[in-house]
Amino acid sequence: MTKSKFLIKGLGGKKSLRGVIGVNGAKNAALKLMAASILFKDEVVLKNIPDIEDIRHTADLLDKLGFTVKREGKRTYKIKPTKHINYELSSETAKRLRASIVLTGPVLARLGKVKFPHPGGCVIGKRPIDLFLDGFKKMGARVADKNGSYVISTQSGKLNGAEIFLRVPSVTGTETFMMAGVLAKGTTIIKNAAMEPEITHLAEFLVSSGAKISGAGTPTITIKGGGLLSQKKPHTAMPDRIEAGSFLILGALVAKDLLIKDCNPNHLEILIDALRSSGVKIDTEKNSIRVRSSKNDYKPMDIKTHEYPGFPTDLQAPMTVFLTQATGESFVFETIFEGRLNYTESLVRMGAEIKMMDPHRIIVKGPSPLHGKVLESPDLRAGLAFVVAAIVASGDSIVHNVRNIDRGYERVEERLREIGVDIARVEAEEERAGL
Ligand code: EPU
Repeated sequence: MTKSKFLIKGLGGKKSLRGVIGVNGAKNAALKLMAASILFKDEVVLKNIPDIEDIRHTADLLDKLGFTVKREGKRTYKIKPTKHINYELSSETAKRLRASIVLTGPVLARLGKVKFPHPGGCVIGKRPIDLFLDGFKKMGARVADKNGSYVISTQSGKLNGAEIFLRVPSVTGTETFMMAGVLAKGTTIIKNAAMEPEITHLAEFLVSSGAKISGAGTPTITIKGGGLLSQKKPHTAMPDRIEAGSFLILGALVAKDLLIKDCNPNHLEILIDALRSSGVKIDTEKNSIRVRSSKNDYKPMDIKTHEYPGFPTDLQAPMTVFLTQATGESFVFETIFEGRLNYTESLVRMGAEIKMMDPHRIIVKGPSPLHGKVLESPDLRAGLAFVVAAIVASGDSIVHNVRNIDRGYERVEERLREIGVDIARVEAEEERAGL
């Protein structure tokens, strides 16, 4: 594994980016589509899957479970069960990504048993799995903790349908129980379900393959259990709303005229509304968003992260960079994860005026000129926010730990270069070779 860093020459606030930037398939949709392939009796073909590390880890988990995983071209995966599927998630791989937890539902539903470690993921605060364990118990499974691994099993080899009330509307929790319900005996009802577009997208994929699911995209989802699924036609992953939203924020800050294509503006209503009310000129079409330069006198605003359709926690960091350039005092309240404001220390080093009230709340005073610095990407979303801040800043920045950014964004620097950003990736090997 190479260690990469980005070298970025800042624009010093100049609005010069222009052109067209494309959005890839959504990481947080693609991961769940791949997990869903466990529910199928034959081959599943998935298109528009981004070429990123979390996807490669998920492919590895499926391979080790006993699925044949073939990649065709850059973005198409063909996933097929073999005769021997086992119930153990590779501990080494599962620990590397939080999304490994969504494989537990379909494995348990298919085999009546699953073994997995506590999942890993970004350093953004506690990532408990109590909701998952409670829900599996409600579906009739026994939970045992053996040498740091969870072993969950059913007596009859099948889960029972159950009513599961989610204390918090967890995204992966909703997806996991929706998939588990597909092969359970009887009806599963998920209450206080999350409503993220990725959940609706997953339900549409399952329904088009024979599952009986209603209510996805609302707080109550009903799943009638049945047999293994069969795909009718290849499925294309939805566009990444977080990637599109991050490009939109970048455009609002430093673009003369930027077209963000292959996205769905309906998934970004709250961001578009917030930016427009701040003074940003935005036009939307069915699959694209255009942002044009306006006077840099953006109004401040208060942002509170919330489950969909509220303000996405995954866009909180780039939005905070935007607010450092708005005139006046803004307030950011991160309600989902408690470790997700720590990155603001680095923005302060760049010149931002940010006061941390407590682990969930900050006050941002703007506009502050930002200056290039050496930065370390703590997680993928804050990592991309640093890239945005470095582009806005005057002078040069280095963003280390690009691997974290690569986990969520496919070769983002290549797309940024096309619209006029001066950004280069330097691999550790190149450094050793003196390049
Ligand atoms: N929670 C519990 N117990 C549980 C599960 C969750 O208390 O068993 C709490 C969490 O601690 C958190 C809240 O519930 O406070 C909501 O977390 P949620 O479970 O919804 O998050 P997630 O499903 O683990 C997904 C995305 C995240 C995104 C969040 C919120 C995937 C793979 N991950 O995480 O994406 O931030 O929903 O929208 O879909 C990212 O892509 O960078 C990322 C972190």
